[in-house]
Amino acid sequence: MKELIDKLYKEQILSREEFFRLLTERTPKEEEYARNLAAEVREKNYGKDIFIRGLIEFTNYCKNDCFYCGIRKSNKKAQRYRLTLEEILSCCQEGYELGFRTFVLQGGEDGFFTKERIVSLIHEIKERYPDCALTLSIGEKPYEEYQAYKEAGADRYLLRHETADEEHYRMLHPEPLSLAHRKECLRNLKKLGFQTGAGFMVGSPGQTAQTLVKDFLFLKELQPQMVGIGPFIPHQDTPFREKTAGTLKDTLFYLALIRLMLPKVLLPATTALGTIHPKGRELGILSGANVVMPNLSPSEVRKKYMLYDNKICTGEEAAEGIQDLKKRMQAIGCKVVTARGDYKG
Ligand code: 5AD
Repeated sequence: MKELIDKLYKEQILSREEFFRLLTERTPKEEEYARNLAAEVREKNYGKDIFIRGLIEFTNYCKNDCFYCGIRKSNKKAQRYRLTLEEILSCCQEGYELGFRTFVLQGGEDGFFTKERIVSLIHEIKERYPDCALTLSIGEKPYEEYQAYKEAGADRYLLRHETADEEHYRMLHPEPLSLAHRKECLRNLKKLGFQTGAGFMVGSPGQTAQTLVKDFLFLKELQPQMVGIGPFIPHQDTPFREKTAGTLKDTLFYLALIRLMLPKVLLPATTALGTIHPKGRELGILSGANVVMPNLSPSEVRKKYMLYDNKICTGEEAAEGIQDLKKRMQAIGCKVVTARGDYKG
C-alpha cells in the first residue's frame, strides 16, 4: 500500500483499481504515512502559510430538500433568516479589520436573492474592498447568472459535488436535483474563469469505497482550484438523524489523498472537522489542508445556520477568535497570513 501512496505522490493519479485497493486495504501506519507526505507537499507548495477566509452565512432559506442538511426546505423547525445588505457589509468591515482578505458569501438557494440582488451585493463589496477576493457559495444557477456574478467581480465559487456516483447522489438528494446538473454547473463555473471548489462529505449515508473512487477520479478530471471535504454529521431534524457521522481518521486520510493528487489545491480544514474533534482543524492542516474559514456571521444568526448538530460557532473557529486560531496554527509550525490566497496554477 505504501507503494500506492508513493505512486500518487509521484504521478498525482492512480487507476480506479489502485484507488480502490488503497481505500479498502490501508492500515493506520499507511494513513499516517500519507498524511505526513501530504503535509510535506503542502509545505513545498505554500510554505508555512495558512490562508483564512471570512465566512458570511447570509441566508438560511433554501428551496432544496437535501436529506442530510439542517436547512433543508422541509425542516419546519429551522428559524429562517436573511441578512440585509448593511448587515453583510458590516460583517465584511469587521472581517477586514481582523485581517481577512477573502469573504465567502454562503447561503441556501434563496429565491429572494435574485441575480440583480446578488450582483449589487458583489458590486458593493468589491467597491469597498477592492483588495479582497470574493467567493460565492449559493448553489446551482443558470449559466447567465454565474456569468453576471463573474462580470460583477466575484472571484471564486464553491459548489460541492457531494458525490460523483449517480445512485448515491439520489440517496442524498431528492429530485429535481441531479448529479448531471451539478457537474454541468461546476463545468460552467470553471469555464467562466471562477476559481472553483468542489468536494464531498466524508461518511455520508451510502458512501462506499466505490463511490469514493469516483469522487477522487472526478476531482482529478475537474481540476478544481479548491476542494472542500468534511465529515457528514447528522442533524436531528432531517431524515438522516439516526445515521452515523463520518470519522476524523477517514477525513484526514482523504484530505491527504487530495493534497497528493492535486498538490496546489486550496484545501480547507472545515468547520465540520473542527466540530467532530477539538483538534480537528490542526489535524487537518497536518494532513495537507492549508485553509481555514472562520465564521464572520453575526453571532445571533450562527445558531440558525445549523447544517448539522453541534456546529461550532464560538471560539477560534469564529472570526473574533482569530488570535486563538493564530496561536493554534503557530503551535503546529504554521502561520496565518492575510494574503488573498489565490490559486497559483
Ligand atoms: N454534515 C456535514 N456537512 C454538511 N453539509 C450539509 N449538511 C451537512 C451535514 N449534515 C455540507 C454540504 C454542503 C456544505 C455547505 O455543507 O456538503 O455542500
